[in-house]
Amino acid sequence: MCGIVAYVGPRDAQPILLDALSRLEYRGYDSAGLAILNGKGVEVRKKSGRIQELAKACASHPIQGQSGISHTRWATHGAATDANAHPHQDAAKKLALVHNGVIENYLELKTILSKAGHTFLSETDTEILAHLVGDAFQSSKAKGEARLVDAVRSATQKIQGTLGIAVIHTDFPGLVVGARRGSPLVIGVGEGENFLASDTQALAPYTSRVVILQDQEVVSLHADRFDVSSPLGDRTNVKIEEVENGVTHSDKGTYPHFMLKEIFEQPAAITNAFRGRLDVDAATAKLGGLNLGSQELRQIERICVLGCGTALHAGLVGKYLIETLAKIPVETQHASEFRYGDSPVSGRTLFIAVSQSGETADTLGAMREAKRRGFTCLGICNNVASTIARESDGGVYMHAGPEIGVAATKSFTSQVVIFTLLGLLLGRLRFLSAAHGRELIEAMENLPALITQALAHSDAIRAVAQRYAKHRSMLYLGRLANFPIALEGALKMKEVTYLHAEGYPSAELKHGVIALIDKETPTVLIATRDGVYDKNLGNLQEIKARGGPVIAVALEEDKKIITLADAVLPVPRTHELLQPILNVIPLQLLSYHAAVALGRDVDKPRNLAKSVTVE
Ligand code: G6P
Repeated sequence: MCGIVAYVGPRDAQPILLDALSRLEYRGYDSAGLAILNGKGVEVRKKSGRIQELAKACASHPIQGQSGISHTRWATHGAATDANAHPHQDAAKKLALVHNGVIENYLELKTILSKAGHTFLSETDTEILAHLVGDAFQSSKAKGEARLVDAVRSATQKIQGTLGIAVIHTDFPGLVVGARRGSPLVIGVGEGENFLASDTQALAPYTSRVVILQDQEVVSLHADRFDVSSPLGDRTNVKIEEVENGVTHSDKGTYPHFMLKEIFEQPAAITNAFRGRLDVDAATAKLGGLNLGSQELRQIERICVLGCGTALHAGLVGKYLIETLAKIPVETQHASEFRYGDSPVSGRTLFIAVSQSGETADTLGAMREAKRRGFTCLGICNNVASTIARESDGGVYMHAGPEIGVAATKSFTSQVVIFTLLGLLLGRLRFLSAAHGRELIEAMENLPALITQALAHSDAIRAVAQRYAKHRSMLYLGRLANFPIALEGALKMKEVTYLHAEGYPSAELKHGVIALIDKETPTVLIATRDGVYDKNLGNLQEIKARGGPVIAVALEEDKKIITLADAVLPVPRTHELLQPILNVIPLQLLSYHAAVALGRDVDKPRNLAKSVTVE
């Protein structure tokens, strides 16, 4: 897991590595480190904590040199300590290596190496690989730089698992060797300088010309050239691509946190999701990027949505939308479960992989498995240059703008809007009348203003959050399309406050969950006026009868619920199918304000990463 950047060129490597690495912090922020060839050998700096800590260490003890490697870590093997931070070195301390991935057979390899006399300074799986490359280098018969390439190739063949690596060696100033299997790695092609990185965003200020390395390829990178070779060592012809790669705006503006800024960006983000995609005359949606004609779309018999975390919750709302609008059965699967399961999939199933980052390893793995079985796979991604966006057969970009806060907010509502567009399009190709299509379009166009109206309650929600933040545990209940909203509300609460929070379908309350209810366990109940409103009020009474506090998400005009619930999070009314989009807004704000009240690190909560690039 983690992010990698390497540089070879005429400039000082240290500031470039630190700057480019900061754009990969979404892949983990447990520790950071770099290694630079300083003319005498390999010099390493590494620090637990954020890249900022590494930058401070580098500012007080800078390393001079024009080629180097760097890493930001999300801990898999070994705690987030200085010793476990990358880069790691071989036994002879002649090379340094950074790694994104997981070495599954590392214990077995560690035992073999230990018996051969190797000692290790860290608890990581990566250090094993550094020692293996060092050993392979010693025994390689290749000459010159080819020796390092050969060593990397033969050491990685002993590894089971995933890797994206970059290696430098004292004997070869001006050379970085990279290799990938499973984890992404791209070459950034500059003018008289070259880069390696886990994704193209890291390179945005430096170059838009990239080569996406393919699995099992190895690259030797110099300032003025690079050679890519296949697993067998044959030279591969590569394609240089231009990527649309604006420098990420990482400015919080007047907001204290990215999470709050991104919550407030939702009116604009969802507008971007449907702008230019509504055909009012035909009362349908236009989604050219699907690469599927009307005939093909009509032939879809089932849909399977793959995703993780928030993206999967958006898929769950999508299921209600598509099943209601287009009457196509939709199943959602945790990507991690699908990729290793025996899940039977019927013939005309369309797969949809949902991922803000487009880099989540489980979602990517599941999508590849579906493609391997011969199914068409669409992607719903925000990051246009991402692996899922590239490898899917077609899809819909979210255009939500960069989401920096680790807790996903605007990407969720954008994804739900895109599912609404898909439902509308598929519905209009089947049974949905133009009148119903038009009603939905009109409601979608009014949605940004209604989100703004929902956001205006932020101060009142802060007061509720401050009242309940001290509790240890919370329940979230909702029915039908609001059940995934309950799941998402609970996930947001867990992610940013570290409180225990669980989402359930409201009616499940009586099947065990009710045992948790007491005066210390508040329940957030989503009870906007819909076909199951009265049922939800029944649940509210059951909770109150057992002394549990209730925080209700309810329509602004609902006077009845004010008299029953302990606190109300008001939302405006919209089309019933779009109501979940409004209902999630106060839940995002509730988590945000509770996290602030508890003094949490809102934008970078402990243990999490924005994009989990290991399985
Ligand atoms: C991580 C993040 C979650 C996110 C999930 C899926 O677990 O912490 O907030 O929902 O990944 O991310 P994706 O980029 O695939 O949407």
